[in-house]
Amino acid sequence: METIKGLKRTHLCEELSMEDISKEVVVMGWVQRVRDLGGLIFADLRDRSGILQLVMNQENKEIYEKAEKLRSEYVIAAKGTLVKRDPETVNDKIKTGQIEVRVTDLRILSKAETPPFMVSDDISVREEIRLRYRYIDLRRPSVQQNLMTRHKITTIAHDFYDKNGFIEIETPILTKSTPEGARDYLVPSRIHNGAFYALPQSPQIYKQILMVSGFDRYMQIAKCFRDEDLRADRQPEFTQIDLEMSFVEADDVMDLNEQFIARVFKEIKGIDIKLPLPRMTYKEAMERFGSDKPDTRFGLEIHDLSDAVKDCEFKVFSGAIKAGGSVRCITVKGGADKFARRELDALVEYVKTYRAKGLAWITVTETELKSPIVKFLTDDECKALLEAAGAEVGDVVLMVADNNKIVFDALGNLRLHLGEKLGLIDESRYDLLWVTDFPLFEYNEDEHRYQAMHYPFTAPRDEDIELLDTTPEKALAKAYDIILNGTELGGGSIRIYDNELQRKMFKAIGITDEEAQLRFPHLLDAFKYGAPPHGGMAYGLDRFAMILCGCPSIRDVIAFPKVQNASELMTQAPSDVDPKQLDELGIAVIRTEEDEDEEE
Ligand code: AMO
Ligand code: AMP
Repeated sequence: METIKGLKRTHLCEELSMEDISKEVVVMGWVQRVRDLGGLIFADLRDRSGILQLVMNQENKEIYEKAEKLRSEYVIAAKGTLVKRDPETVNDKIKTGQIEVRVTDLRILSKAETPPFMVSDDISVREEIRLRYRYIDLRRPSVQQNLMTRHKITTIAHDFYDKNGFIEIETPILTKSTPEGARDYLVPSRIHNGAFYALPQSPQIYKQILMVSGFDRYMQIAKCFRDEDLRADRQPEFTQIDLEMSFVEADDVMDLNEQFIARVFKEIKGIDIKLPLPRMTYKEAMERFGSDKPDTRFGLEIHDLSDAVKDCEFKVFSGAIKAGGSVRCITVKGGADKFARRELDALVEYVKTYRAKGLAWITVTETELKSPIVKFLTDDECKALLEAAGAEVGDVVLMVADNNKIVFDALGNLRLHLGEKLGLIDESRYDLLWVTDFPLFEYNEDEHRYQAMHYPFTAPRDEDIELLDTTPEKALAKAYDIILNGTELGGGSIRIYDNELQRKMFKAIGITDEEAQLRFPHLLDAFKYGAPPHGGMAYGLDRFAMILCGCPSIRDVIAFPKVQNASELMTQAPSDVDPKQLDELGIAVIRTEEDEDEEE
């Protein structure tokens, strides 16, 4: 094999242009493809910048013979003169389509077997295969572009937060369980057999302690670990742009952070984001969009029909309202022509996956209301219902009656489903907004108790503190999420920094002083020694990159992502370990029949 001895790379492929004609250049990279025209060989050289054509002819016999051996994915170095291509070989599709290198020194640095798939963006290869051979997949231009975009976001983050007085501080990865609420990844301790570190679900506790320590403003590109079910926008191991600020209120955190978002959009997409960003309360988001992360790129908003039907004969409706729930709808304009009976039935099945018991519908035609339920409604009730639904001739009204949680969940998801199905989403838009005033607590149906909605150190609104003793479910939090195109891009809150208020908060969710002291002793102790008011937030970097790259999954913007079953296909992690390692850790593995079935 040859070496690069004596050669210094002068350019990346796509750095070269017509301005460099006649220059002697040295380029290095992978062979994309070779065309042997007999007497003349063209090779496309690829590096991370793109493609450049090399030409080798018989004038130099040694080079020509070497060129005959070139195959796709060989790694080569080439020296030569940059020339203008003959007009008939000009390729307008690539940036270097007008130029080529007439090679005077060619070195084969490394040979390659035929790869399992072509290094190209127009391939249709199963994701498992791509991830199994991720080192080849990562050569594809679109994947490289994604990771470069991700790099740009973190570069901007470092610069932006530095300029605004933030200090980057690393926090431990081997740590004590954090209260983010997902399942922890545990790491057994060799020195303390039987004891475990938890990988951080976020640096939450540490960053608050850094505020108590007086650092004033902290940021970190932080790895977080949560043993949750995977989804397109969820990985067990992901990255946050994490920050915390002292002596601030919610507005300060939001005002500063939307400038960061605007800068990212400007520098990466060339898009001017209008500031301040819109803000919407949680209540409004739920009532209009059935979601705390509303996709505001299209309409199909939810309407409340409860007043119109509260006394009607249809017990499903009136009963739901009497039980404290509601009847709400989505009105599809012109839907009468779009939904045949069969399609309406499919929508009924769709909402049932969100625990709705059914989906009542009314199709408004010139002459009648077609519907399985209007027979239970008086003319006046029908009129009031259609008015509340904003429905006219040609429209379809789709209604769900239940407790509010189910109504919002079913209609919110139905709205997204229809938005996509009817092609209502303008994919060229980037809709950003803050959702604020989240409830402080949510009810845990399984455990029949209230729990903190975000995190137990989230501060209640000042005016809601007294509700903690009486009706905690009504208290709202100083919490905010930033939403981009219906995805929760980030979120945070102003924290409680006073142990008295903290105790009240814990009491409201049934955590005793002793339990609290057990779970968060360091934070509660730290607060005893002078804590500044503080708050912060964290962005999901993977999600931000995913949306900016227009990708359907965060796997596309992570170099070595995990798949559905939480394994990493290239290294085959997780895997068995040497029994000796387990011995040292004092761990014995108990295999169940299920495990053995899986292995077979
Ligand atoms: P939160 O839990 O909302 O807040 O996380 C912040 C952001 O991280 C992203 N995110 C994820 N991305 C990929 N895969 C996951 N499994 C995943 N989980 C979360 C989301 C989310 O908005 N400590 C608080 C922040 C704070 O209050 O300052 C926290 O972690 O984009
Ligand atoms: P049923 O009385 O079960 O025959 O339902 C009559 C119609 O009302 C059907 O179209 C059902 O899909 C619909 N329906 C049933 N339960 C609900 C509900 N909770 N909300 C909205 N529609 C419902």
